[in-house]
Amino acid sequence: MKQLNVGLIGCGFMGRTHSNAHRKVGNFFNLEYQPVLKAICDFNAEKAGAFAKQWGFESVETCWKALLARKDIDLIDICLPNNLHAEVAIAAAKAGKMIICEKPLARDGKEAAPMVKAVEKAGVPNLVSFNYRRIPAVTLAKQLITEGRLGKIFHYRAKFLQDWTISKDLPQGGDALWRLDVKAAGSGVTGDLLAHCIDTALWLNGSINTVNAMTETFIKERKSNITGKVEKVGIDDACAFLCRFANGSLATFESTRYARGHKALYTFEINGEHASIFWDLHDLHRLQWFDHKDEGKLRGWRSIHVTDGDHPYMKNWWVPGLNVGFEHSFVHQLADFLTGVATGKPASPTFREALETQYVCDAVLKSAKTCRWEKVKQAKAQ
Ligand SMILES: NC(=O)c1ccc[n+]([C@@H]2O[C@H](COP(=O)([O-])OP(=O)(O)OC[C@H]3O[C@@H](n4cnc5c(N)ncnc54)[C@H](O)[C@@H]3O)[C@@H](O)[C@H]2O)c1
Repeated sequence: MKQLNVGLIGCGFMGRTHSNAHRKVGNFFNLEYQPVLKAICDFNAEKAGAFAKQWGFESVETCWKALLARKDIDLIDICLPNNLHAEVAIAAAKAGKMIICEKPLARDGKEAAPMVKAVEKAGVPNLVSFNYRRIPAVTLAKQLITEGRLGKIFHYRAKFLQDWTISKDLPQGGDALWRLDVKAAGSGVTGDLLAHCIDTALWLNGSINTVNAMTETFIKERKSNITGKVEKVGIDDACAFLCRFANGSLATFESTRYARGHKALYTFEINGEHASIFWDLHDLHRLQWFDHKDEGKLRGWRSIHVTDGDHPYMKNWWVPGLNVGFEHSFVHQLADFLTGVATGKPASPTFREALETQYVCDAVLKSAKTCRWEKVKQAKAQ
């Protein structure tokens, strides 16, 4: 087994999920490469030191430029707020490092496009962490669609609902709360939550041609943790949009952080000519399936418990009937990335593929301003 030395930047929420994946992947998947937790980097030295001890990193850096300059690092894993993705990823590509970058690729398409150029010019393996693709039930949905079991697809329906920003006393900026600060996040629920829904949808149902959106910012001003002053809120608190896919299907997407009672309700439903699929993050190991080809008197929605050995990724875990969870999607993502490095067939979504999601987000935010249908820019290589 070859060692692959990891330099992970950002020891917050995603720093933990990625560190967990680096530690576990070799235990559950037979891979040519074994990640080694070589260095953790965070500008908060105390946090980085404690994180290194807890997760077993060999060394600590407080400046990402110093980390990138190290010859003993093969892979840079970016778990930073959105405004730092572009600068770090472009520098990492120039330094010849492989890159895994958290989603969204950047704050908007204009910022993301040079990242795609940089990794393609450097020829370094690259992946964006749209981890929901790797939840076994979602991967199973992809297999069923690819096998043509749904037939022609008519509808795609997705939502991602939360309720954690309803209080007007919540400040903006800093750890986790950078999501409320438009300078750090780029946008609100569109780049944060809908980006996940859009990535899954592009993967399952192909390209989106046009969108028509509305957004709202319910709390207009919040105290900034950075300046200490009350400042205008620049993010979208809620967003809903209609869109048309290239395959002719129609879709609705909705996201908000103001749906009281919902913490992370990500659901999608797809209706095809022969069958329908429904998935719910709160019941993530199940895929709801309706097949019109079933015998009439037995026809109905089936709840498939996606834990069998022949379900995606599941033979690598326990025995049939035992669930896996959210964190496993990051292990699967890393296993696929490392397999891609070994075989030369890159895992998806690459930076270029994730640029497509960014362009959909751009069109959504533009449409919310213009109150018109907007075309989505194409991200495919010329
Ligand atoms: N895939 C998913 O399901 C998912 C879930 C949550 C977040 N994310 C994405 O992951 C990224 C990080 O989000 P998070 O929730 O982990 O954020 P977080 O606030 O929990 O952690 C960010 C970390 O980055 C550090 N940091 C900030 N600026 C830095 C700098 N200049 N140099 C070094 N360290 C710095 C902070 O100290 C903090 O420890 C974001 O892009 C977010 O959109 C993805």
